[in-house]
Amino acid sequence: MADETKKRVFSGVQPTGKVTLGNYLGAIRNWTPLQESFDCLFCVVDLHSLTVRQVPAELRKNTLDLTALYIACGIDPSQSILFIQSHVHEHAELAWILDTVAYVGELNRMTQFKDKARRHADNINMGLMNYPVLMASDILLYQAEYIPVGKDQVQHVELARDIAVRFNSRYSDTFVVPQCMLSKTGSSIKSLQEPTAKMSKSDPDDNAVISLTDDPDAVRRKLRRAVTDSDTDAHCVRHDAAKPGISNLLNVYSLCSGVSVADAEKQFEGKGYGVFKEAVADAVVSVLQPIQAEQKRLLADKGYLERVLKEGAERASAIAQRTLSKVYRKVGLVPKIR
Ligand code: TRP
Repeated sequence: MADETKKRVFSGVQPTGKVTLGNYLGAIRNWTPLQESFDCLFCVVDLHSLTVRQVPAELRKNTLDLTALYIACGIDPSQSILFIQSHVHEHAELAWILDTVAYVGELNRMTQFKDKARRHADNINMGLMNYPVLMASDILLYQAEYIPVGKDQVQHVELARDIAVRFNSRYSDTFVVPQCMLSKTGSSIKSLQEPTAKMSKSDPDDNAVISLTDDPDAVRRKLRRAVTDSDTDAHCVRHDAAKPGISNLLNVYSLCSGVSVADAEKQFEGKGYGVFKEAVADAVVSVLQPIQAEQKRLLADKGYLERVLKEGAERASAIAQRTLSKVYRKVGLVPKIR
C-alpha cells in the first residue's frame, strides 16, 4: 500500500519509438534507487502517445513491451506502482478541469509543442497542444512532489507547477506543487551521429541511436560508425569540449562499465579510437543483455504482466479518485449520489 509518510515521485515514459540507451542511462536506471526512499509511481503514458499518429496494433505492443522493460530495468512492482495511464480514467478527467485553468497563450509557447507542430505539420491536433495539461494531470492527481525527468521536460513540469499554484489560489489548497528532480549522471547522452544533439527516440537516423533492444551486432556496428573528432590530436581518447564525439563515448563507457572517465582516459592512452570503440561496445552489450533477457522472459509470462498491471491500476486509482473527487467538489460540481 502507498506509504503516506514518504514523499511521492511520479514519472512516465511514452510507449512510442524505442527506448534508447540515453533514456536508460539518463532516466530509468536512476529511478530504481528512488524506490527505497520514496513512494514511487511509474506510468506508461499511452494517452500521450496518441498525440502523434500511431498504428493501433503497434501502440498496444509497445505498451506491453515498455511495461516489461520497466520491470527488466529494475522497477519493482511490489514496491512501486507501475501502471498504464489509460487504465486510470481520472487522468483524462482531471485534464479537462485543468484545461479550464491553463491558458492558450502558455500552451502555445511550449517549446516542445512548437517543435512537434513543425515536425508534424499535417497533424497539429488539439491533443498535441494539450499534451502538457495531461502531463500536469498525471502529476497533480497523485500529489507527487518530485518528478524525475530529462531537461527537455522541465518546461512541462514548470507548467504543472504554475497550474497547481493557480488552482490552489483560486479554489484553496488542493494540489502539492511539484518540482523537477534532474539526474546528475548520464542526463546528456548524445546522438552517435551528431554528438552535440541529444540521443533522441525520435531521431530518424537509426545509426544515431542505440536502442535498449538492439542486438550485440547492431550495437557494435553503430558504435564503429559513431562520429569521432578530427582535432589536432586525433585518436587521443580524451574528455574535452573540443571532442564532443569521443567525450560522449567516454560518458557512455563510464556509465556502462563503472570505470570513471579519468581512469578510462588512462586505460585507452595511445590505443586509438578503434580499440576504444570496441571496448565501448562490449560495455554497452554487457548492460543490455541481461535487460533484454529479462524483458523477453517477462513478455512470455502474460499472466504475470496482467497481474502487475491490474494491481498497479487499482493502487493508482485509489489515490487518483481521492484527488479527483476533491477537485470536483472544489470547483462546484454536484457530487454524484452513490
Ligand atoms: N512528457 C514526458 C516525456 O515525453 C512523459 C510524461 C507524461 C511524463 N506524463 C508525465 C513524465 C508525468 C513525468 C511526469 O518524457
